[in-house]
Amino acid sequence: MNISVTLEQVEQKYRQYHKRINDELGKCFTKDSPRSLYGPARYILDGTGKRIRPFLTLLAAEAVCGSSENAIKTALAVEILHNFTLVHDDIMDQADLRHGRPTVHVKWDSTAAILSGDMMIAFAYECALQTKTARHDELVHILNDANITICEGQAIDMELEQRQDATIADYLDMIAKKTGRLISASLEAGGIVGDADSEQIEKLMLFGDKIGRAFQVQDDYLDIMAENGKSGKVPGGDVINGKKTYLLLRSLELTTGQERDMLQFVIDNKGISPDRVPEIRAIYEQCGVLDEARDLINTDTEDALSAVDTLPYAEGREYLKGFALKLMKRDF
Ligand code: IPE
Ligand code: IPE
Ligand code: MG
Ligand code: MG
Ligand code: MG
Repeated sequence: MNISVTLEQVEQKYRQYHKRINDELGKCFTKDSPRSLYGPARYILDGTGKRIRPFLTLLAAEAVCGSSENAIKTALAVEILHNFTLVHDDIMDQADLRHGRPTVHVKWDSTAAILSGDMMIAFAYECALQTKTARHDELVHILNDANITICEGQAIDMELEQRQDATIADYLDMIAKKTGRLISASLEAGGIVGDADSEQIEKLMLFGDKIGRAFQVQDDYLDIMAENGKSGKVPGGDVINGKKTYLLLRSLELTTGQERDMLQFVIDNKGISPDRVPEIRAIYEQCGVLDEARDLINTDTEDALSAVDTLPYAEGREYLKGFALKLMKRDF
């Protein structure tokens, strides 16, 4: 696939837009009181979030109309909505660490985490409504659809934890909902602000579905394989909690004997103690599942690149493609 920007240029634009997004986020949640409401919202946004979704919103607008000037408020809306999901996700996953720091419910408590998350949802919609566009109704519809779909995905994620018979198909359906939809919505919303037609929106959404899936498989991979501390999360948190990830479900199909018994134990026991994480990592390294995960990520990324190849504005389009390639190789 031909791309007319270098990965260095992509990196540079990403850094520049990361700052642009963070500067705007810094103006949100500035009220001092109640501290236990606004403090957690500020805290999660002060973390080292990658700002992937708002970056995609800005690039999507550029790819369809040549400018992202009007899309910044919508970009904030998706990032704030995303951060609300993280705060609640960490309660559900009983995760103690995010961005290398204590999670909100650990630093405060679950009440503060629930309430701040709720407030962030409403705040996100306010941002969307401040966008300069004649298509607010569509923006709200997109955020609603994304929000409901994430809740479906998170519910399925929790149900899969309890199920003994989960399949790869169940897993792929679950991640399309919990992760893919917000990524495709970020692109869709950027397209709407750029006044895209329905065909362009479809292309942006397909791009989002594909990179969203690749992104979550990579997230599962990094959960256990990331170099020390790089994920900013508890290493092996997914196996500790018995989560049905791509790695766990597929390696169950790829192994036999003692190795398979060990993986089945993770499922039956609904998790494993942290000191046994290295044993699971060793099985993943030997059974071929890491290569398969890599193949899936590469294929999805290629499909994503072709999906947007005919969008009208070269600059935004090529950076979208370049960023998909950067995400494919991420180790953070
Ligand atoms: C984390 O998303 C949740 C998933 C969908 C895997 P990110 O990895 O984009 O989190 P931040 O925004 O960088 O913190
Ligand atoms: C993320 O899934 C889904 C949402 C936040 C909606 P994970 O539970 O895998 O995300 P991390 O790994 O905690 O960021
Ligand atoms: Mg989760
Ligand atoms: Mg989690
Ligand atoms: Mg994860």
